[in-house]
Amino acid sequence: MALSARRKVGTMATGTSTSEVRTPGSWEGRPPGVPGAVPPPSVPLSFLAAASAGLVACGVAWVWVRSAATATPNGDPAIAAVHFGVLAALTMGVLGAAHQFTPVITGRPLRSVAVARATFVAWLGASWLLPLGIGFEQPALAGVSGALALVGLVLLAWNLAAPLSVRGKGAPVTALRLGVLGAVATTLLGATFVGDRQGNWFALSAHVDLAMGVLGVFAWLGVTYIGVAQKLWPMFMLAHLPGRHRSGTVAVWVTWLGAAVLAGGLAHGASTAEWSGAGILCVGLGAHLVSLWAHLRHRRRKADLHLLFVATAAAWLVAGAGLGLAGALVLPHHHRLGTGLAAAAMVAAGGWLLEALVGHVHKVVPFVLWSLLRSAGARTGPSGKPLMFADLYHHGWAAATYGTVTAGIGALCGGLGAASAPATAAGGVLLAATGVLAAVNLSVRPLRLRSRARTEAASGAAGSPATALRAAAPSAAGAPAAGSPAGAVPTPHPAPAERPA
Ligand code: HEM
Repeated sequence: MALSARRKVGTMATGTSTSEVRTPGSWEGRPPGVPGAVPPPSVPLSFLAAASAGLVACGVAWVWVRSAATATPNGDPAIAAVHFGVLAALTMGVLGAAHQFTPVITGRPLRSVAVARATFVAWLGASWLLPLGIGFEQPALAGVSGALALVGLVLLAWNLAAPLSVRGKGAPVTALRLGVLGAVATTLLGATFVGDRQGNWFALSAHVDLAMGVLGVFAWLGVTYIGVAQKLWPMFMLAHLPGRHRSGTVAVWVTWLGAAVLAGGLAHGASTAEWSGAGILCVGLGAHLVSLWAHLRHRRRKADLHLLFVATAAAWLVAGAGLGLAGALVLPHHHRLGTGLAAAAMVAAGGWLLEALVGHVHKVVPFVLWSLLRSAGARTGPSGKPLMFADLYHHGWAAATYGTVTAGIGALCGGLGAASAPATAAGGVLLAATGVLAAVNLSVRPLRLRSRARTEAASGAAGSPATALRAAAPSAAGAPAAGSPAGAVPTPHPAPAERPA
């Protein structure tokens, strides 16, 4: 019932592709069962593919700048490597999630799929040209990246504003709105910094640079993750919280507020605002952890790799808070150690998001691809049983990816904190390996399944030509076998029976 209600967005609810009505958000070839508001898979997947390429570049950059970055954690080589991480990897990943989940959560499509693609191109250009421009001392390249980031920001805000104007959808929508505000603040500050590099107008202290890190990591990317997690955790952990739980809502508002106050304090060198902002931020992030704990306690799914990713991500958050506090206390007495601790705190905070992103893509990418593969005629997984989400990647490689990302964040934290170039380089190698592993693991099996389905449909291997046509017809995929994952695309309220094992 929930499925047919969702179909009404953008299609006539008949279950046949021929009866589709071209409303905003509908797209050609959408498999039955995929809600009309959801964008084509190529939208989120292009961002996610770019995020893994960005992670590889980030890893290579840390290896490249290992000595310079450990000597001066806030010098240009480190700033370049930082931006491959925060922009080319994390921001691209979070933008992919925002383009997928804003329509899913609100039930309203993006204003335009074409604009989503233009947003992708603008942010891809910005996120690579900025670190390349800073790293290779090419101010013009950095200037172009600033302009592209502004274009990307305007396109993003325009496209998401329509679905985000929906009322009554709770903390996740609030978080997505606040995330867009955070994106505005971070990008405007970034563009100002880039402008400054053309003419050296201001003296930018390390504190002011850190304000950008706080805004970007917590008021933009972090708050988006915190909000979207409120929808994803119940689904992925099979956790339905009884009664009213306010911790998710508190986490969204208070994290954003704390980040704004802390960033303001850092930008103006006002220590009262810095300490009170840091305190408020800790309350917000604490509420996020309380919400995670409630989901863990009420989950009905056994502990799995996703849970390990999410729990480890939370541990990075705690480590980041500890390192940040240590850095703030040590800095006035021991500048080098204090700077190293502050850099390690930023890595741990970024590690929180990276670990969560890598964990969630192992759920979300199969969700997005499953209905597409079914409608292409793929019916069975490698074992010959009905195709499940879990068939779409190799679980051993996913566990290895957990190992590389966790060890990579740890090594980078240790390398920058303790000024060790070999540890920083090891972190870089492990992060680059993570990007490669995740991208290959999440694409090889779906590509194989698609090509097998195409070959079977073309040769009629499934039986007669009529059988092959039926296998390829989307309408046939609209009636999943009992126990198969009918709600193939993440939905706000999936019924337990819709979920894969
Ligand atoms: C999620 C988004 C972002 C995060 C988390 C972030 C984080 C940071 C951090 C932590 C630093 C200081 C690095 C260090 O001292 O080692 C920094 C500096 C800088 N950022 Fe970003 N940034 C983000 C987005 C952007 C954007 C969109 C731009 C511009 C297009 C930008 C341009 C710059 C520049 C030019 C500097 C160096 C400022 C200087 O000259 O000292 N950043 N950023």
